[in-house]
Amino acid sequence: MSKVSIQSLLKKKQDGQKFAVVTCYEASYARLVEKAAIDVILVGDSLGNVVQGNDSTLPVTVADMAYHTACVKRGCAQPMIMADLPFGSYNTTEQCLESATSLMRAGAHMVKIEGGAWLADSIRQLNRAGIPVCCHLGLTPQSVNVFGGYRVQGRDAAAAQAMIEDALALEAAGAMLLVLECVPTSLAKQITDKLHIPVIGIGAGPHTDAQVLVMHDLLGVTEKTARFVRNFAEGSASIEHALSRYREAVEDGSFPAEEHCFN
Ligand code: KIV
Ligand code: NA
Repeated sequence: MSKVSIQSLLKKKQDGQKFAVVTCYEASYARLVEKAAIDVILVGDSLGNVVQGNDSTLPVTVADMAYHTACVKRGCAQPMIMADLPFGSYNTTEQCLESATSLMRAGAHMVKIEGGAWLADSIRQLNRAGIPVCCHLGLTPQSVNVFGGYRVQGRDAAAAQAMIEDALALEAAGAMLLVLECVPTSLAKQITDKLHIPVIGIGAGPHTDAQVLVMHDLLGVTEKTARFVRNFAEGSASIEHALSRYREAVEDGSFPAEEHCFN
């Protein structure tokens, strides 16, 4: 596997080749992700749940994210490393630039932010500073207290239309990737078809350009998992094997299957 870049991911979308993304928070697992030839590592603020044991991502700080990004960076050379800007770290464009700079210094190649068209100024500012941006729409866990729980988003026509408009606005502002979390399959397909940038789904059906899963979920370490998760450790000889099977299932389109989707 050669070094993964935004350009190589864009080419995959244009060629209709699916790619896999997995979360990772430390060096030893990052080495296994690389050996399994997975293109992108997300240092997710889901570490607040699966590593720190919190019941949401809200307690995670920029310092926590920088620490885990640096750990991942030391474990791999080829995958693209994307790091989440945590809750409360991008409330203004200035704060966003400062937080993102910390994560890039720690070893990230790109940052991810949760939210819609209102982030356009921040995206432009980050791009001017040399920082590529992935956006995240649908169930954005940092807003769990606004949503009143972890629920599928974009179910009615008005919410679906608003998500499409947000996605287009984010792409126009310069976002280079988009994550869609827990959205109906047909809406995720519409957004994926409308955008030129690669769309990465989680609980968003089989039509997105890529899939992402939380490492602990796909390895069956998490106590209670969501509908969209498959345990790839079952029937695998090793963790590296489980990661390879996940990548292959994404690439050949066998994951996600009907039972992992919301219609
Ligand atoms: O933090 C995370 O793990 C994420 C993915 C679920 C997309 O943001
Ligand atoms: Na996240």
